[in-house]
Amino acid sequence: MNSLAVRIVRIVGLVAPTMGMLFLLAAPLRAQDAPALFKSKCAACHGPDGSGNVPMGKTLGVTDLKADAVQKQTDAQLTDSITNGKGAKMPAYKGKLTDDQIKGLVGFIRDLAKK
Ligand code: HEC
Repeated sequence: MNSLAVRIVRIVGLVAPTMGMLFLLAAPLRAQDAPALFKSKCAACHGPDGSGNVPMGKTLGVTDLKADAVQKQTDAQLTDSITNGKGAKMPAYKGKLTDDQIKGLVGFIRDLAKK
């Protein structure tokens, strides 16, 4: 093998594992997106804890996301409320958030109730 080939083999040998590690690291990071996303997109109306106990939440009369009325709904129903909106005041996030992000938020709403 000439020295260029050796160098290429070394670089590939170094880069490939690094990419693999980044890929593995990215998966849990994506799952952690949901709390940050909720805080930036939803907390103004729903409160950081989902209770709706914030001025905007009280004005709009949002339901506590931790309450049975919300928790007993299926994931599909919650996904629909976030994707297509609900009533006159809950905005639709279709096209603004990806399906994965919305799925993460549904999981986050479930987690809220466990606390
Ligand atoms: C502009 C204020 C506002 C923002 C921002 C907002 N919501 Fe809402 N949301 C509401 C209101 C008001 C309702 C109640 C709608 C109704 O029942 O008529 C609601 C209802 C919901 C429901 C259904 C609850 C139920 O009673 O069935 C879910 C789930 C929900 N919101 C999730 C979210 C998520 C997740 C976000 C962020 C991506 C978000 N909301 C952002 C105002 C908001």
